[in-house]
Amino acid sequence: EKGGFEFFMDKEIAEQGDAVRSTLMGHFDGSGIVLDEQRLSEDDLRTIDKVFVVACGTAYHSGLIAKYAIEHWCRIPVEVEVASEFRYRDPVLDRQTLVVAVSQSGETADTLEAVRHARRQGARVLAVCNTNGAQIPRESDAVLYTHAGPEIGVASTKAFLAQLAANYLVGLALAQARGTKYRDEIAREYEALTAMVEAVEQTLTLMDPVRKLAQEIAQSKAVLFLGRHVGFPVALEGALKLKELAYMHAEGFAAGELKHGPIALIEDGLPVVIVTPSPKSDPLIHSKLLSNIREIQARGARTIVISEEGDDTVAPFADFLVELPRVPKLFQPLVATIPLQVLAAEIARARGYDIDKPRNLAKSVTVE
Ligand code: M6R
Repeated sequence: EKGGFEFFMDKEIAEQGDAVRSTLMGHFDGSGIVLDEQRLSEDDLRTIDKVFVVACGTAYHSGLIAKYAIEHWCRIPVEVEVASEFRYRDPVLDRQTLVVAVSQSGETADTLEAVRHARRQGARVLAVCNTNGAQIPRESDAVLYTHAGPEIGVASTKAFLAQLAANYLVGLALAQARGTKYRDEIAREYEALTAMVEAVEQTLTLMDPVRKLAQEIAQSKAVLFLGRHVGFPVALEGALKLKELAYMHAEGFAAGELKHGPIALIEDGLPVVIVTPSPKSDPLIHSKLLSNIREIQARGARTIVISEEGDDTVAPFADFLVELPRVPKLFQPLVATIPLQVLAAEIARARGYDIDKPRNLAKSVTVE
């Protein structure tokens, strides 16, 4: 069943190209984006003036990334919130609010309760879910299924990439309904998204050095993760993977926040993973990150830099460089997350842990 892999998680990491491909498939009909079960019409979507994404854990991180894409394409505010906080603070919801509930299992109690609350307040709810007929899609107005296939490993990997793909589709569908993007622009974005399947496959072939690095830093006390823009949620996801699998202290920060506190944590030899954007598509953020990297290297950190191939400006400040294929800025998380998943899995393996079943965790959390 593990297809020759030691753990399900290894297999699921390897299947991520397929997960993205299957999730995108059939959602463009030649003239525009089509979602799954359309209990929300294009007219309904047109009236939406605010979006909330509610989810937990890794699914929440997919929502944080969706915010960048949806706000950019659709010009409407997007709030992203962990489901367990959402309903207890009286969020402002009405018929013009779209709540996107993202859940691999479709059974997470916190997310389900958030969905129920949103519907009671009159909001429209769209579920992004990997499990056919699960409770969350059943109680939502519409559903967009991710097609990652069953995910056995407790740590979410392929479901996360599939969630990203689905969230981008939601953004494009909204842009289409609201008319904030021309049809041909949407077609081009969809095509670029489809091309990400190959970038994911290619990234998966580049992971051997990351496996080696994992051996070297497996005994570290802590690892920090930094990013900006869409790289920030990727940093959070990298830290979560490492916590849950390797039981190590790991934290993700917005790189710009460093000097507001976290830089005090930097000490000699501390591994810091930095997710760097493309110098071409995002020169401003790139230059800011570059100075962050220099700053922490000067203070003794061991810099592990995730960068775009051919970016030689970062190389002098990288103690370890992971080069990834060049991709559009908003889609970078689809490739940048992969080395962080592999790093966490390999560190956990080096420490002798069962990477499919981390301690104290359940695959689906059905109590609040
Ligand atoms: O099934 P869900 O997507 O609703 O689950 C949400 C979280 O419990 C889940 O993503 C969790 O954070 C993973 N173990 C992270 O790898």
